[in-house]
Amino acid sequence: MRHFLDLLDLNSDELNHLLADATAMKGAYKRGDRQPFLAGRVLGLVFEKPSLRTRASFEAAMAQMGGSSIFLSANDGQLGKRESVPDFARTLSQYVDAVALRTYSHRTIEEFAAHSSIPVINALSDASHPCQVLGDLLTMQELFGNKLQGRTLVFVGDGNNVARSMAVGCAMLGVRFVLAAPDGYRFEDGFVQTLQKRHPLGEVIQNGVPGHAVGSADVIYTDVWTSMGQEAEHEERLRKFAPFQVNSQLLALAPAHTRLMHCLPARRGEEVTAEAMESERSIIFEQAGNRMHAQKALLKWLLA
Ligand code: CP
Ligand code: NVA
Repeated sequence: MRHFLDLLDLNSDELNHLLADATAMKGAYKRGDRQPFLAGRVLGLVFEKPSLRTRASFEAAMAQMGGSSIFLSANDGQLGKRESVPDFARTLSQYVDAVALRTYSHRTIEEFAAHSSIPVINALSDASHPCQVLGDLLTMQELFGNKLQGRTLVFVGDGNNVARSMAVGCAMLGVRFVLAAPDGYRFEDGFVQTLQKRHPLGEVIQNGVPGHAVGSADVIYTDVWTSMGQEAEHEERLRKFAPFQVNSQLLALAPAHTRLMHCLPARRGEEVTAEAMESERSIIFEQAGNRMHAQKALLKWLLA
């Protein structure tokens, strides 16, 4: 049995297999071909935080593959409050075939996995968002071809959960990852060291200046400045991140082929302008669509 708590749980061959299968599953879906790979299987979703894309794409993915899903929100689940995380995990493991968890603390997912007898999927934690990056790498392959090695992704904004997972995904496929973030919002040294030890060819550059960084970008990626759980810091973050907005002026400094990605939800007027989101460089909504195809491959790999 395997868990998917982090992209580092996969080796590069497994990641390439998932991306290839996601491409195949997407092709089949577009042709109207929906095979019941997961007939009778049930996915549990336990979410402490809101979600549109992750929840809806996992539920649709299960339904399309002949399975079903059960959603437990923070109120239903009360993970770790109504009963302990180990008791929750040992009980739910007997009703469903896999569980996707979205939690405030990454530690909760690890604790759940340690007591679960079924595969556990990280559906976002404060540390990482690996499901997001599976879909994002699929989107980048559609854009640039299967060999992404040598491309450059510039992440402008907060060195957050999505940025960390993107850095891992890029390192695994030989994509240069540049983080343009203000002081105090870059990656922890330990994270970069672990990543470079596991994927020595991965290049992670932490550079404070978006205007310089985007000159070599194939992809500019951004995410909200205030992630779920950080709401009390919102005003301070608005001030600190103001020079890191992705807008038409910044996009104009990038090569003509550079595309804009965002995991969504976006706060138009903060990390990204409406104009940038709606520009012809934006592939944000194709990116959102690919979440489902990538997760179908993941579910099939974990369960079929
Ligand atoms: N990108 C993403 O995970 O979106 P949701 O928070 O809506 O699931
Ligand atoms: N960094 C954001 C991503 C949302 C999908 C958050 O954690 O809120």
